[in-house]
Amino acid sequence: MARTAIIAPSLLSADFARLESAVRIAEEGGAEWLHVDVMDGHFVPNITVGPLIVEALRPLTRLVLDCHLMIENPDQYIPQFVNAGADVVTVHVETCPHLNRTIQHIKSLGVKAGVALNPATTLGAIEEILPELDMVLLMSVNPGFGGQSFIPTLYRRAETLRSWIRRDNLECLIEADGGIKLDNIARVHAAGVDVIVSGSGIFGSDDPVGTIREMRRVAGSGS
Ligand code: DX5
Ligand code: ZN
Repeated sequence: MARTAIIAPSLLSADFARLESAVRIAEEGGAEWLHVDVMDGHFVPNITVGPLIVEALRPLTRLVLDCHLMIENPDQYIPQFVNAGADVVTVHVETCPHLNRTIQHIKSLGVKAGVALNPATTLGAIEEILPELDMVLLMSVNPGFGGQSFIPTLYRRAETLRSWIRRDNLECLIEADGGIKLDNIARVHAAGVDVIVSGSGIFGSDDPVGTIREMRRVAGSGS
């Protein structure tokens, strides 16, 4: 089955004084999602944005707002992100002692629920809950910063997860995040990834619109 990857430009590497122009770049390039990285300075060493930015983005675009919560105690903030206009809310398995409850909470608010795994977290951590998930986000860097180097264990992890999803005939999407650029996107896609996040690979390039278009072309078939 040929599937075209969804490109999710990460705003983390965009110019925060011109967020609207980053939205237009994503739209013009043909991206379908926008990736919003939420960091709290506790789960990860960096601090970024919260629901206010999601709320500001919502009236600007119909792109899927993909909120990646790299925060401790995400349950406390999930309703705020949903009310702000998030379409997908992804929590880290490492922050959720009662993951089943957290996932049901997200879904009960009418949005898609994702679970992210750090590079060193075993896939087994989500095996039992996979049938409940709309998406699994596999980190291909240690979360916290844009512009880090890709960790290649992502390929094997994505292949294994894809085989579980196929075996059980599930709908769950696989997203990969971190260090993905034009030079490795085809292999990431071939490993079975549906949604590909790229921050510096897009907004750090000379021609961000052209880069998104080229990424869509390169990741447009296979898997
Ligand atoms: C990292 C974030 C990523 C980041 C990716 O913690 O979750 O979404 O923006 O940036 P690049 O594509 O530059 O690695
Ligand atoms: Zn992210």
